[in-house]
Amino acid sequence: MLPQIDKNCLPRHIAIIMDGNGRWANEQGKDRLFGHYKGVESVRNTLEACAELGIGFLTLYAFSTENWNRPDEEVAGLMELLVSTIRAEVESLHKNNIKLSVIGEIDKLPTNARKELEEAFEVTKNNSGLNLIMALSYGGRWELVNAMKKIATKVKSNEIGLDEIDNDLLQSNLETAGVPDPELMIRTGGEYRISNFLLYQLAYSELYFADIHWPQFNKEHLFAAIAEYQKRERRFGKTGLQVNQLID
Ligand code: IPE
Ligand code: IPE
Ligand code: MG
Repeated sequence: MLPQIDKNCLPRHIAIIMDGNGRWANEQGKDRLFGHYKGVESVRNTLEACAELGIGFLTLYAFSTENWNRPDEEVAGLMELLVSTIRAEVESLHKNNIKLSVIGEIDKLPTNARKELEEAFEVTKNNSGLNLIMALSYGGRWELVNAMKKIATKVKSNEIGLDEIDNDLLQSNLETAGVPDPELMIRTGGEYRISNFLLYQLAYSELYFADIHWPQFNKEHLFAAIAEYQKRERRFGKTGLQVNQLID
């Protein structure tokens, strides 16, 4: 698959909705948590593939604002999995020059998860390779409301004027401040929806839906998604002739 990928026009930022863990596990006659554990292997493979290709940013949707409404047992299991995975993987992230960060309402996470994450941020903070962004307790609507509150506070205190509110200011008040918008968004699990992921940032992303569950996702699937992305014509509202510079 690799040869089909043009290394000169890779997406800088890939975002993934890792969906289908529970259904995959049920298909194997196992409980949902088994699927989440299996999903960690797919994360590892994806990280390896992104690092090999030299992708700049990878955002993984691991837990949404709405996922807090799942049964207590599943939420607790997912939080435990988060803690044990970070602990087990931090050295390997560091060795592979990966820098970890998080977007989302991190205050809502259990104390031990926050502590584990903060240690991992510290260990990996000077790494210059892949930026791994975990979306945890993240929701696009929460992020936008939060950004509006931050901006309103600055307006109220006369730090900025109303006419200074523009796209750049909004962007710099999002969780993803400083991160380029994803050129490619992949969703596994067979659903064709955004589920409150990066609502602002996905405005012009190419969407790719893989008809497999997340625990089945491997490097080949990632390469296939990138190859498909490279076939797309990104027009950003212009005409095909303009994009191909045949007319102004
Ligand atoms: C995605 O898989 C992981 C999380 C949302 C935490 P799901 O748990 O949503 O699995 P399905 O979609 O129910 O199969
Ligand atoms: C989206 O999956 C969230 C994550 C993968 C973390 P969900 O399973 O929560 O999405 P819906 O409920 O099917 O839209
Ligand atoms: Mg799901």
